[in-house]
Amino acid sequence: MCGIIGYVGPKSTLDVLLGGLRRLEYRGYDSAGVSVISAGGNLETRKKAGKLDNLVSEITSHPLPESHIGIGHTRWATHGAPTDGNAHPHLGGPTSKLSLIHNGIIENFGALKAELLAAGTKFASETDSEVAAHLIAAEFEKTGDLPKAFANVVNRLHGAFTILVIHESQPDVVLAARRNAPLVIGLGDGENFLGSDVAAFVEHTDRAISVGQDEIVILRAGSVEVRTFDGAPVTPTEFKVDWDASAASKGGWSSFMAKEIADQPQAVADTLMGRLESDGSVVLQEIDGLSAEDIKNIDRIIMVACGTASYACDVAKYAIEKFSRIPVQVELSHEFRYRDPIVTERTLIVAVSQSGETMDTLMATRYAKEQGAKVLAICNTQGATLARESDAVIYTHAGPEVAVASTKALVAQITAGYLLALFLGAGRGATAQAELRRLGQELLKMPANVTHVLERLEPIRELAKKMADAKSVLFLGRNVGFPVAMEGALKLKELAYIHAEGFAAGELKHGPIALIEEGQPVFVIVPSPDDVDSLHPKVISNIQEIRARGAKVIAIAEEGDAEVGNYAEHVTYVPKCENIFSSILTVIPLQCFALELSTAKGLDVDQPRNLAKSVTVE
Ligand code: G6P
Repeated sequence: MCGIIGYVGPKSTLDVLLGGLRRLEYRGYDSAGVSVISAGGNLETRKKAGKLDNLVSEITSHPLPESHIGIGHTRWATHGAPTDGNAHPHLGGPTSKLSLIHNGIIENFGALKAELLAAGTKFASETDSEVAAHLIAAEFEKTGDLPKAFANVVNRLHGAFTILVIHESQPDVVLAARRNAPLVIGLGDGENFLGSDVAAFVEHTDRAISVGQDEIVILRAGSVEVRTFDGAPVTPTEFKVDWDASAASKGGWSSFMAKEIADQPQAVADTLMGRLESDGSVVLQEIDGLSAEDIKNIDRIIMVACGTASYACDVAKYAIEKFSRIPVQVELSHEFRYRDPIVTERTLIVAVSQSGETMDTLMATRYAKEQGAKVLAICNTQGATLARESDAVIYTHAGPEVAVASTKALVAQITAGYLLALFLGAGRGATAQAELRRLGQELLKMPANVTHVLERLEPIRELAKKMADAKSVLFLGRNVGFPVAMEGALKLKELAYIHAEGFAAGELKHGPIALIEEGQPVFVIVPSPDDVDSLHPKVISNIQEIRARGAKVIAIAEEGDAEVGNYAEHVTYVPKCENIFSSILTVIPLQCFALELSTAKGLDVDQPRNLAKSVTVE
């Protein structure tokens, strides 16, 4: 969490920093701050608790001088409450000539702080980060060599950190270090950038370098030097950012989330593009890190993820097992890592993450690699740590997702999961080629189907507005509708702060039915009536059971389902499609419902309380 940006070059530094922070605000919005060094050589800092707009007002009342070097930070608080004083940057040394921003947690800050206090250092905040600022300033006093002082100190820090530093005495250089937290360099013409991810500078350049573990960057307007923490030179590899800058702006929509919901046909189409031939066969060149032999040898797949991404895994499990007959286990990354799981060289780990920086998921994959397993990532962010550390990556081409609550990244992850299922089905010879191609052709219809759903959401919007006072909402589904029900509940919790639970509809009678009382709203994801496994009649029976106990049923059902309308108070119909692929469609009305209900309650849909989009601490 926390977003960081650094800049050195001819542009107005404040514009670059604030523009970058605006696109990074999804990483945390407890406070924000910037430091710049003026043309006259003075370090100046402004910082403010609350969202970025508070910092902008502060700068309007106390303007900053023209500058060509600076650093900026948007915070998700860990150590110390979200106050002005705890906001970054933090100044180091008795004369406060050094400014530092930090993303992560310095685990040994207690011992380091005790050392500084004993030496008489005065602290202005309760953060772990300020410790690093004072240590580097003191080390610089001793050595007179800023990069050396910086390296000496970062080598003493434990935990997770990306740290950026500028110093008044050296107004042409930004120093950065990365351990267990993300850092990307943006390469410009006579200017260079640092960011937590490419969104920080996508407006200015599409040339980037992903900084490796335990590496230091010495960034000047005309040069970029990367070294290891031990001082050995690193030759970095450049990559091209394929995100379009306009995709990271609201573009006239009321919120990023509204825009990102509307982006979903494109997200699905772009994720399929180049991977599905017109005859329906799947080509996944990205998986060349895994040989045909590796695929034949897989005896089990473990999918790891957190939050919304874990529901994409739950959907993928149904499809992968069905088409490839490889057993799939879905695990929350944080639970998987710390329970001594059984992982062998024949296990394939599929790690799913929008950001590719979720620490729980990174730790799970590192652990699995140590056990000899191969790791395939499904990731949305180029240059992300997960992508770097995996044997192969299927990128979801959803584009930048800014709203904290994931929407288009989820449908892209689900799409990638279906592609993987078809690919493994072919690789293992578990499903007839003709059937797989037929399914591939069905998948090709999904972008148009998503558009169809988006065009018919007005009634559910109206319904959400009327339900702003709801205290509890339940969600039921079966098969791929079950993870959709879980996601519907999560969205409502995240966005509208309403108690919500998702259940497998078959589980209802084993306990949750006790929750049903007069007027209880229950969403039901109804499978296709043509479903070969005959789940439709069972779900209709579940609806009858809850209706008999007073529930108000809101159904998401397939067009042409003649029965469901008789039993539900409200039905949103989605186009007919292959039942296994229906999750891409049925989740959309639930996203829209949560967004509208949150808006009706006057809440901030893009930045819900207490959350951060990218959780880079365990
Ligand atoms: C956080 C976010 C969720 C997200 C989860 C996983 O908890 O608030 O919206 O689903 O992280 O994020 P990832 O980037 O790994 O997909």
